[in-house]
Amino acid sequence: MNAELQPLTDEAIVALRADLLAGAYTLEALTSRLGESALNGLVRNSSVPVVRALAGRSDAQADLTRLWLLGLPVAQTRVRALHSGVDELLAAQLLVTDGDDYRAAVELKPYGDESFSGWICADPTPLDGRVGRPRPDFVLGASPASTTLAQLIPRDGVVSALDLGTGCGIQALHLAAHCRRIVATDLNPRALQLARITLGLAGVDADLRLGSLYEPVADDAFDLIVTNPPYVMTPPDSSGLIYREGVEIGDGLMRRVVSEAADRLNPGGTLIVLGNWAITERAWGERLAEWIPDGCDALVLQREVLDPFEYVELWLTDAGLSGSDDYQRRYAEWLDYFAGLGIESVGMGWLAVRKSGRAVPERRFEEWPHAVHQPVAAAFADFFDAIEPARLPEDELLAGFWRLHDGVLQETLGRPGAADPQHLVFRQQYGFGRAVEPGTALAAVAGACDGDLALGTLLDAVAAILEVDPDALRDELLPQVRRLIAEGYLLPA
Ligand SMILES: C[S@@+](CC[C@H](N)C(=O)[O-])C[C@H]1O[C@@H](n2cnc3c(N)ncnc32)[C@H](O)[C@@H]1O
Repeated sequence: MNAELQPLTDEAIVALRADLLAGAYTLEALTSRLGESALNGLVRNSSVPVVRALAGRSDAQADLTRLWLLGLPVAQTRVRALHSGVDELLAAQLLVTDGDDYRAAVELKPYGDESFSGWICADPTPLDGRVGRPRPDFVLGASPASTTLAQLIPRDGVVSALDLGTGCGIQALHLAAHCRRIVATDLNPRALQLARITLGLAGVDADLRLGSLYEPVADDAFDLIVTNPPYVMTPPDSSGLIYREGVEIGDGLMRRVVSEAADRLNPGGTLIVLGNWAITERAWGERLAEWIPDGCDALVLQREVLDPFEYVELWLTDAGLSGSDDYQRRYAEWLDYFAGLGIESVGMGWLAVRKSGRAVPERRFEEWPHAVHQPVAAAFADFFDAIEPARLPEDELLAGFWRLHDGVLQETLGRPGAADPQHLVFRQQYGFGRAVEPGTALAAVAGACDGDLALGTLLDAVAAILEVDPDALRDELLPQVRRLIAEGYLLPA
């Protein structure tokens, strides 16, 4: 499937959408017809469950699924019955002739969530363990990284958004559900061609621009920038796959995405990045702190760390090089490359940066391998929103009315029959799922925070019950109250 795509007219995209809908080739219809487990097979890149579910069926939905989802040949007469614009699809090289059949040169995968329903147009996913060497400009469909990033994206108060490195257009598709203006960029012209189809099929009006990093938006600024950039750190000329690796050394491309973002953000704007970074002999957070632009707050969560062997094996397999003659040579070359750069392991995670303009910004770099409550986007927004209240002067903090988040549960652990628990834990059933051991006094104060009484009053009441000096209790608990506010347990009432 090496055909060069040609542009499909807007009218042909509209006609294609009508044909897909007429054939009930939608996520909802397919899920109810084929069943979750058949579709889950495709998540594992196995076509067998869907092929079996379609066995003996010759209706439009079955043929559209064979053609656009499974990449199977379908008789020309059938395809012409399904699509009004076959000649346009052939001219655009989205369909190719295969004897008496047509085959799709791209994948159109039904995709959606609670707010939209559409199709992702991408290069075909290799199914059933088929290994191939993807073309350098291969355009990946919805990957686990894409869907994770989509769940990190804040939705409130965003008018304009940049999807940097849009690929198949998946992030722009998500953004369209809540943003008025979307610009989507990519260095790969083929990606923009396919993103145009993805977005056109959903009726999304996005401004698609060709170019590297922030070049195509040099005169623009946004409320939100989202990106899942080509973060794979490879030796020069390793695979040439544009979707996963840039030309920078080590994690240089990630660094540029973050450090050059500030000028492209509106005041108060947010950058959300999913990616990899090098871990060297320095503390990883210390290295990444240098990437964060002045006047910006940041929350960076390192979700996973891979050693160089795991990392190289993962990406050699992704490039279809497992079992190839030069596997060992490439593996060794890659390890040498890492050794030369002092890369001891690779961190994988999420970066959120907000342009607050604060003279003393808040920056947090955390190991966070724990399960989170998706979509976790609101937890990033809450982190930034909590900075100001957590820093209030003491008198304002004490005069303030606070409320314990409804999603905090208290867990107690201890010997049965014991007067007091050995451990008392506040655990968030939302966002990052943080947990803290507050101790008896703080638990009593926080537990009483329902917005009715000022914090100072509650502290004094708890001091009286515990028969301790109120001033000493304030001094002891106020830093911990600030932490509960900063971490989203306590909210301004
Ligand atoms: C990992 S893919 C992410 C695609 C999509 N945003 C997603 O979430 O699935 C990275 C994308 O960045 C594009 N890209 C590579 N180098 C780039 C650069 N220097 N500037 C902009 N985009 C680039 C690739 O072509 C690819 O589409």
